[in-house]
Amino acid sequence: YVLGIDLGTSSLKGLLMNQQGEIVATASSNYDLHHPAPGFSEQNPEDWYTACVAVMEKLNITVTDFKEQLEGISFSGQMHSLVLLDEDLNVLRPAILWNDVRTTAECEFIMSTYSNELYAITKNRALEGFTLPKVLWVQKHEPDIWQKVAHLLLPKDYLRLKLTGQLNMDYADAAGTLLFDINAKQWSQSILDQFQIPINILPTAVESIAYVGDLLADSVPNITFEKTVKVFAGGADNACAALGAGVMDETVGMSSIGTSGVFLAYEQNGQSDYQGKLHLFNHTIPNSYYSMGVTLAAGHSLSWFKETFAADLSFDELLEDIADVPIGSKGLLFTPYISGERTPHIDSTIRGSFIGIDASHSLKHFTRSVIEGITFSLKDVQMLMTEAANKSFEKIISVGGGAQNPTWLQIQADVFNAPVVALKSEQGPGLGAAMIATLGLGWFPSVEACVTQCVTYKNPVNPIPENVNKYQQIYAVYKTVYTNTKELSRQLSHL
Ligand code: XUL
Repeated sequence: YVLGIDLGTSSLKGLLMNQQGEIVATASSNYDLHHPAPGFSEQNPEDWYTACVAVMEKLNITVTDFKEQLEGISFSGQMHSLVLLDEDLNVLRPAILWNDVRTTAECEFIMSTYSNELYAITKNRALEGFTLPKVLWVQKHEPDIWQKVAHLLLPKDYLRLKLTGQLNMDYADAAGTLLFDINAKQWSQSILDQFQIPINILPTAVESIAYVGDLLADSVPNITFEKTVKVFAGGADNACAALGAGVMDETVGMSSIGTSGVFLAYEQNGQSDYQGKLHLFNHTIPNSYYSMGVTLAAGHSLSWFKETFAADLSFDELLEDIADVPIGSKGLLFTPYISGERTPHIDSTIRGSFIGIDASHSLKHFTRSVIEGITFSLKDVQMLMTEAANKSFEKIISVGGGAQNPTWLQIQADVFNAPVVALKSEQGPGLGAAMIATLGLGWFPSVEACVTQCVTYKNPVNPIPENVNKYQQIYAVYKTVYTNTKELSRQLSHL
């Protein structure tokens, strides 16, 4: 077996896979998220390790030959979250998570003094969620802690350290720190010098499939594994999700709708010039990259809408009638900016809107317009990829909430103007992590063979030309709503 460990924001999930690429068992364990001040989001790194041990113990109970047959482990992890250790490998402060937004001032400082250099090296711009601004925040607000920092890691690197005693970070996660030269695949001395970060606090950067050590005998106290369990570096959750969805060439895109939404594309050479409007990171597959943009409130827009206007309905009941509503929700248009927007606007002050409300609209029109608005927002990312890098997709893999409903899949196919495919069994980034372990162990001769064996798809949902045409016209209107409401949102927020 191999074990894929997905260290997420609310829980740690384990996925056990056999040599045929079949999932044998899964288990998960939750942990808390702490908000000590508005905009702050923190976690205790020890909780990830405790959850990991709990998951292994659960698997050991449900799978009789778990401890006899486990051969490899790899990881998927929440990106960007800052873990700081002292020289004895003790945690110095709670991890500052990717969704913590305390670093606006640090981002403004970086962007006003160093944006061109940063973009040339990392191919990204500074955003509150990324690691470098969090480092600057600690330097400024907690100098005593900063003085003691001997190691800087991301969450799954800390967990891997607990399991192997080794300090590493994979390229896929290093890319999201803003300290890494993504094309040279090494820590950037220029960035480190600029921000007075000693290079010796950074771990060795390695490929996602790199073997980094063996599972330490006493790291999972109650289980004695019979074979040597090899541990492979793993990758950032978005990169692992992409691998687990089979995104491994330029013709395939991915649309992922969770609380937030991600539209993601494979990039062969890491040279696309998105001018910081999209993120560009190293992939888990050696010598490749991926670009992505984020809709901050994707599934969140729908859950907010349901809780506010139809709390007594289930999601299935809410979505039941949307197939009867014509394309464009009878002239009703929604923008999902309920907590600002990341891509393409990078604007935390913009707010959402319903445009064109008519006395004939009912709940189902509003519901469909919310779903269409979320999909248009992901289309914005697709359009940036098309305009800047000439991308066109032969298929788009849909994962998360958008893949659960047949009408939403058709809406995606029509809005993206490409066949949209859902996975037969959706396992999230943990599957990509397990696949990394199989590649590290050499179970499959190539990444292609691994994907063919481990990832299975449902039938594609094809775009309907008439609908595509209608959505193109509505999308043209959608694109203008941002500029037309930006100033209104700003004025209202000051009243
Ligand atoms: C990506 C990002 C999130 C986290 C979630 O830039 O911040 O998708 O990876 O764990």
